Amino acid sequence: MAKIVILASGSGSNAESIIRYAQAHNTYQVASVISDKSEALVLQRAKNLGVEAETVVKTKDESKVQFEDRLVHVIEKYQPDWIVLAGFMKLLSKNFLMNFYDQKIKQFKVVNIHPSLLPLFPGKEAYEQSFNSGLAEYGCTIHFVDEGMDTGKMIYQERLKKIEGEDFETFKARGLAAENRIYPIILEKLFVEFSS
Ligand code: GAR
Repeated sequence: MAKIVILASGSGSNAESIIRYAQAHNTYQVASVISDKSEALVLQRAKNLGVEAETVVKTKDESKVQFEDRLVHVIEKYQPDWIVLAGFMKLLSKNFLMNFYDQKIKQFKVVNIHPSLLPLFPGKEAYEQSFNSGLAEYGCTIHFVDEGMDTGKMIYQERLKKIEGEDFETFKARGLAAENRIYPIILEKLFVEFSS
């Protein structure tokens, strides 16, 4: 069974839905949730579900390389098959990603969900940008992670229709609900397809 480590920086609705799905279906295992923010709600959500939660916070006098090396060290304790980003807000360097390169699939075994129909609106505040774009469709993209900003190979895209007159909060809540619903299922399919 695939074992994963989730990296998250924030509220953790995606992490929670992945953990709940994994526990209900027993098709993959969440070994740990690691956050780069000590106050992130995701840590409590993981603990409440009986999953180990740890923080690796970048210190002021530490370089990106040093921080990432510490992060890799903590991740490796769990010997995961995959790293799953769920609202992890730091860009990971090639130095980090190389630790998880898989020769067979020619990808880093690191997956992310991004709240836009990539290649539209990479980076931060993607729901805001989608909402303000005037486009009739929005959604989210699950993709392999590479060293670019949300540029890795696409795995799956979920499309939603913007509802005439809806406010931003409703628009975003519908998007996040779609993320929470599809991410655990797409991960399950991915782990089966690329099981070693
Ligand atoms: C989600 O919308 C996720 O797609 C986004 O952060 C939110 C985290 O929510 N990620 C990014 O923007 C990454 N570039 P959550 O903490 O409730 O899962």
